Amino acid sequence: MSNFYEAEVLSVHHWTDRLFSFTTTRDPGFRYQSGQFAMIGLDVDGRPLMRAYSMVSPHYDEQLEFLSIKVPDGPLTSRLQNIQVGDAILVGRKASGTLLSQNLLPGKHLYLLGTGTGLAPFMSIVQDPDIYDKFDKVILVHGCRHVSELAYQKRIEADLPNHEFLGGMVAGRLLYYPTVTREPFENQGRIPDLLTNPEFYDKLGVPPLDIEHDRFMLCGSPAMLKDTVEVLQAHGLTEGNMSHPGHYVIERAFVDK
Ligand code: A2P
Repeated sequence: MSNFYEAEVLSVHHWTDRLFSFTTTRDPGFRYQSGQFAMIGLDVDGRPLMRAYSMVSPHYDEQLEFLSIKVPDGPLTSRLQNIQVGDAILVGRKASGTLLSQNLLPGKHLYLLGTGTGLAPFMSIVQDPDIYDKFDKVILVHGCRHVSELAYQKRIEADLPNHEFLGGMVAGRLLYYPTVTREPFENQGRIPDLLTNPEFYDKLGVPPLDIEHDRFMLCGSPAMLKDTVEVLQAHGLTEGNMSHPGHYVIERAFVDK
């Protein structure tokens, strides 16, 4: 059996000239946990060209959803950005990734810190009821250059709290903090700077960073991960993995450069 299967594109949404998302059919045998990623790609000249993409869709969804940047000369995204409804994409049969609550020590507040397309795995997690059983508050922080890149705002702010099944769990417990760095906006600044700024916690209405209660998941560029981990480590927090749960877990952004 091949390592990949063909999924059919069901919808495509272009957020900006740098960012788009799409949904596909899902093979019933393809299982994953919310927050994980799979290899996806296209057949290029008879060979699979694959990159790691986090699922935006929660584990129970019938469809798969992905968020992607568009890199004009990127081997995959220069082609992927042109996909149309009805096209086929390749999806790897195996999902993996470390952004799993089982890799974290128990806590009260779960911070999901993502920049750019690093939001993707957290969209999956905030739509998963399990996370609200494990944490009192889930705090989703999304950092972007521009306001137009704050993808899924409506789903996070309006649809989820009013969702037929999830609404009761999400309302008042999923806190959303979009932040922008290159134009005026209600929240500004890079994530590592926010974590050391009392105003950030005040605006959210939560206590300042506390190793006893706060847990973190990180997804972004290598520079974002490095700078954010520095702040967390300065507070004594340790990284978790499959064999040792910790205070934070990290995943690299899945950028096609
Ligand atoms: P900035 O505009 O100051 O570079 P990108 O689109 O390049 O992936 O950036 C997404 C967001 O991540 C931007 O808001 C960007 O801020 C921010 N960013 C870039 N480098 C870092 C870093 N080292 N730590 C935290 N955020 C970063």
